[in-house]
Amino acid sequence: MARFDSRVAIVTGGGSGIGEGISKALAAEGAKVVVTDIKIEAAQRVVDEIVAAGGTAAAFSANTGIAEDSEKTVKFAQDTYGALHLAVNNAGIGAPAANIGDYEVAAWDRVVNVDLNGVFYGLRSQLPAIVAAGGGAVVNMSSVLGSVGIAQNAAYVASKHALIGLTKVAALEYSAQGVRTNAVGPGFIDTPLVRSSLSPEALTGLEAQHATGRLGTDAEVAALTLFLLSDDASFITGSYHLVDGGYSAH
Ligand SMILES: NC(=O)c1ccc[n+]([C@@H]2O[C@H](COP(=O)([O-])OP(=O)(O)OC[C@H]3O[C@@H](n4cnc5c(N)ncnc54)[C@H](O)[C@@H]3O)[C@@H](O)[C@H]2O)c1
Repeated sequence: MARFDSRVAIVTGGGSGIGEGISKALAAEGAKVVVTDIKIEAAQRVVDEIVAAGGTAAAFSANTGIAEDSEKTVKFAQDTYGALHLAVNNAGIGAPAANIGDYEVAAWDRVVNVDLNGVFYGLRSQLPAIVAAGGGAVVNMSSVLGSVGIAQNAAYVASKHALIGLTKVAALEYSAQGVRTNAVGPGFIDTPLVRSSLSPEALTGLEAQHATGRLGTDAEVAALTLFLLSDDASFITGSYHLVDGGYSAH
């Protein structure tokens, strides 16, 4: 019996990077996975690879920054697989670097809408559905930048801090009904989001800021996320867990 046999999961932003790694890891351990993404072709590629490897998954086009899309995603999971037990609110975006005085209001709104509002919209739809299914667990993808700051990244840092508070409230409201909610804080992970925003020199400098001397992998974030979603973590809720290669150990 695999850890997630007969469990139904939603992974938002599952078409790339960390979400792709988590979707594949959940499916490899028996979960039926709804892989959502704003880019449906990216979600479908991940689903095709899961199915080719013998797993069960379905792609769903959804923008986490739209509340109705989160409701539709939960309904799709229930209609397709009969229930919802697990959710990973992973979709996230960055914005061009700027000091606060020069920070575009539109960029702030765009980032906060996906990185914070999107997690709220997700939880709002997912938590009652998971209670109705008899319980389960949720992981919200924060960042090491949920506990430390970085210059020129105000909207992202503020959103990743705020969703740790949101995680605590979700845990206080729903843990007694059988739904644990935790936040994960990755250090810098080698994904398209990071590679596309850094020069080779900046990448080398970033590696050195981790005690490990390297960036993390999506598999390393998936390992922690799956632990928190599993029954092995049955007394863990409302907390924030780093997987940051020692970035914040300074
Ligand atoms: N890569 C890192 O170093 C790192 C570190 C800490 C935290 N994180 C967080 O992990 C999460 C995943 O990051 P990643 O590096 O894998 O990014 P990524 O860009 O590789 O993948 C993100 C996926 O989310 C999708 N997406 C973007 N906006 C969306 C929306 N509104 N609705 C639905 N899907 C949307 C994208 O199309 C993409 O497929 C993000 O929340 C990010 O902030 C990443």
